[in-house]
Amino acid sequence: MVDTLAHEDELQELFEATIARHDRLEPRDWMPEGYRRTLVRQIAQHAHSEIIGMQPEGNWIGRAPSLRRKAVLLAKVQDEAGHGLYLYSATETLGVSRDELTEMLIDGRQKYSSIFNYPTLSYADVGTIGWLVDGAAICNQVPLCRTSFGPYGRAMIRVCKEESFHQRQGFELLMTMMRGTEEQQAMVQESVDRFWWPALMMFGPPDADSPNTAQSMAWGIKTHTNDELRQKFVDMTVPQAARLGVTLPDPDLRWNPERGHHDFGQPDWQEFARVVKGHGPCNAQRVAHRRQAWEDGAWVREAATAYAAKQEESA
Ligand SMILES: [Fe+2]
Ligand SMILES: [Fe+2]
Repeated sequence: MVDTLAHEDELQELFEATIARHDRLEPRDWMPEGYRRTLVRQIAQHAHSEIIGMQPEGNWIGRAPSLRRKAVLLAKVQDEAGHGLYLYSATETLGVSRDELTEMLIDGRQKYSSIFNYPTLSYADVGTIGWLVDGAAICNQVPLCRTSFGPYGRAMIRVCKEESFHQRQGFELLMTMMRGTEEQQAMVQESVDRFWWPALMMFGPPDADSPNTAQSMAWGIKTHTNDELRQKFVDMTVPQAARLGVTLPDPDLRWNPERGHHDFGQPDWQEFARVVKGHGPCNAQRVAHRRQAWEDGAWVREAATAYAAKQEESA
């Protein structure tokens, strides 16, 4: 028993040394159970967000106004499916299967980003999601390319390249609409008014109310706090909004020369809490849709498993 404990201490030291060197942990390395659990929760939540995030935009594929717009949107939504798959694979290296994770999502035991519980009411929302939601995702995810768990960091490098394209296509769509009729301009403004605050919520609660941040930073999973990333996003987005000619719906938003950053107002954190707890405008619809797709796909999974078993038999 004493030997085992001494052994664990050594492993813990090795783990901590790896983190301190900013080196990466790989799936076969020893890791504390809390680190593993935190990663499973975070990567699964991220994977679920990619998959559920296909729904609000998928809503507009059949109604895209031109073949070109439809092709772009289809490609974008397919990219999100790919992101989900990279991330589920990263989670599988930690010993949890994609089936288990999907079951946890549709049972409400795991979460996904609150942003996808808002509806897409106009076609301009496709542009706004690309610009603001993928833009916020980039701010969150670029630092994750250097996260301490290897498979997660490597998945993020590929994901971020595609996210930058998503952000550009959203901006390009909005720019086209802003050069159009007054009605199109009004559609863009109305869409930005609805998505601005939920986009700021994507970084999570203020640092003071984010009890897990310190541990995640000590483990090298997170490298920036929620408030730092939110600030970065605001600073990046304000000049883009000016270029587009849209107003960001925050009367407190202004440049602060002393800080060298923009000051801005706080989102409605009570609304955030409600949405996270499952009471947002589309939570029930999103999960019901995912559950239906999972149930409808059961025969495909069964057929694939039977085929794989047969291949093994004949091998
Ligand atoms: Fe994505
Ligand atoms: Fe994206």
